[in-house]
Amino acid sequence: MCGIVGILGKEPVAFDVVEALKRLEYRGYDSAGVATIEGGEIRRTRAEGKLKNLDGKLREAPHQGRVGIGHTRWATHGRPTENNAHPHATDRLAVVHNGIIENFRELREELTAKGAVFVSQTDTEVVAHLVTDLMKSGLAPREAVAAALPRLHGAFALGFIFGGEDNLLIGARRGAPLAVGYGEGEMYLGSDALALAPFTDRIAYLEEGDWVVLTRDGAQYFDETNTPVTRKPQKSQAGAYLVDKGNHRHFMLKEIYEQPEVVGRTLAHYVDMSAGKVQLPFDAPVDWTKLTRLSITACGTAFLAGQIGKYWFERLAKLPVEIDIASEFRYRDAPLDDGQLMIVVSQSGETADTLATLRYAKSCGNKILSVVNVPTSTIARESDAVALTLAGPEIGVASTKAFTCQLTVLASLAIAAGRARGVLSAEREAELINALIATPGLIADALKLEEPIAALSHSLAKASDVLYLGRGTSYPLAMEGALKLKEISYIHAEGYAAGELKHGPIALIDETLPVIVLAPRDHWFEKTVSNVQEVAARGGEIVLVGPQGASEACAVATLADVTMPEVPPDFSAIVYAVPVQLIAYHTAVVMGKDVDQPRNLAKSVTVE
Ligand code: M6R
Repeated sequence: MCGIVGILGKEPVAFDVVEALKRLEYRGYDSAGVATIEGGEIRRTRAEGKLKNLDGKLREAPHQGRVGIGHTRWATHGRPTENNAHPHATDRLAVVHNGIIENFRELREELTAKGAVFVSQTDTEVVAHLVTDLMKSGLAPREAVAAALPRLHGAFALGFIFGGEDNLLIGARRGAPLAVGYGEGEMYLGSDALALAPFTDRIAYLEEGDWVVLTRDGAQYFDETNTPVTRKPQKSQAGAYLVDKGNHRHFMLKEIYEQPEVVGRTLAHYVDMSAGKVQLPFDAPVDWTKLTRLSITACGTAFLAGQIGKYWFERLAKLPVEIDIASEFRYRDAPLDDGQLMIVVSQSGETADTLATLRYAKSCGNKILSVVNVPTSTIARESDAVALTLAGPEIGVASTKAFTCQLTVLASLAIAAGRARGVLSAEREAELINALIATPGLIADALKLEEPIAALSHSLAKASDVLYLGRGTSYPLAMEGALKLKEISYIHAEGYAAGELKHGPIALIDETLPVIVLAPRDHWFEKTVSNVQEVAARGGEIVLVGPQGASEACAVATLADVTMPEVPPDFSAIVYAVPVQLIAYHTAVVMGKDVDQPRNLAKSVTVE
């Protein structure tokens, strides 16, 4: 959830560390810090808030050290103050940490009893004192780290530098990702390859339990039994992606606009367009015909993509689907049958709860198919098969293009399953493929609605609550709309199944409550029209998102109509995601919120 960087350079490294941290700010941004070794001593600069504050402090008093570590934080233990910001240090070493040290209280007591003085509220500080304690007992830095690691419980990644050591950087991985970059006489450590892309494209990944000793000459890897192991660098594609906003005001808007391209690219990966059929680019890890049940798990937006996928697998492949959010699934002791399939959906491929559920399902004998955006991620690497979403790096904390790419992949998988299970004829498959092929163009058409949506957002920005309604696949999309709005505008919002309205939420409706109704012309259209009339009868302020003629069909006064292009019914959610995203985006912009880095959130949630 935090971002880690380490650099062993030829010149002073502090500004390069900050440059790399900027690419990790998506992992957390409540405080940041850098430590270097200067004249043999540890020197630290830390700042509350975003990286620009740290950058400003470093410009006033630049570091000269040629070895350094840096950190951008998403607070787990202790408030986001400068004092709790990383790196944490003793007179011997400085450490940066991503994750949670679960047994930090016991270690803190033990080390306090030995005389260690703790100055922060973080779990990380125990790591600094534990390794220092071992060094004071006579161990060299690498021996001390090797001895300390087995004493730390939890999921984490660490980076260390040591006083008096100008050519040493140590990293360790237990459940949180860590990559090593190879330069010319320079070496790097980072939470992902994207962070290191400005410096090198030769990247090796630590395996679970590994730790690594870096000098300017290279890297020595060890596994968790301290046995030397080889981790070969590979050429990373991370640098191929432009990580800037282009001519857009925010990454989120840029990513919304990238959707015609990335959905098209993802589709081309799964569909033989000329033959009108799905062509999976990997061997399915199970025989679709033998499955009696499919499990899906994920968190947040990825979970809502999975919810939409459930409708498709059930309708198109007649495959019963059980779906649950990963933080519940992992602790639910759900019985899972040997040989069945679990689909795991994750943009980052690093979400802790999703990963834990994957491991649980594996332990029950399930095969794992992951739908991920980062091919080198832990979830991808621990899966039996990987279905990539080719969305490219998603920087905005609010997931947009990854969501529509997840939907594209899930739709393709559902069609593949339906064909294999004999539910879909070749003609029906071709019809569905044609509907999918139309989506990039329809997304482009939906993007043309930005202006009226921006105008409507001025009214939404005044609301304190917003209700989203939908039926069928528009129900999870309604929840996605509410999640997007909450995340970036901080307006309370709920997504409800329109048919459930009368069982409770209808009591909320009055003239102060905007009700956004997602009404594509699909199997549920007529029913949704009735629900619109129920809302209108109670004075609700309706925003109707539907095709030409939807407003006439409803025959009620609305606050606004968002008139969508005519969309084939089966995969309408992929196109209707666009107005949902634009509504949240523009409402947050009108309110002056930090759209790309909303408060309290992080892009990649690698703690539970
Ligand atoms: O990387 P993942 O897809 O596993 O992340 C899951 C959620 O944390 C993520 O979708 C989150 O809900 C987004 N901020 C939503 O916009």
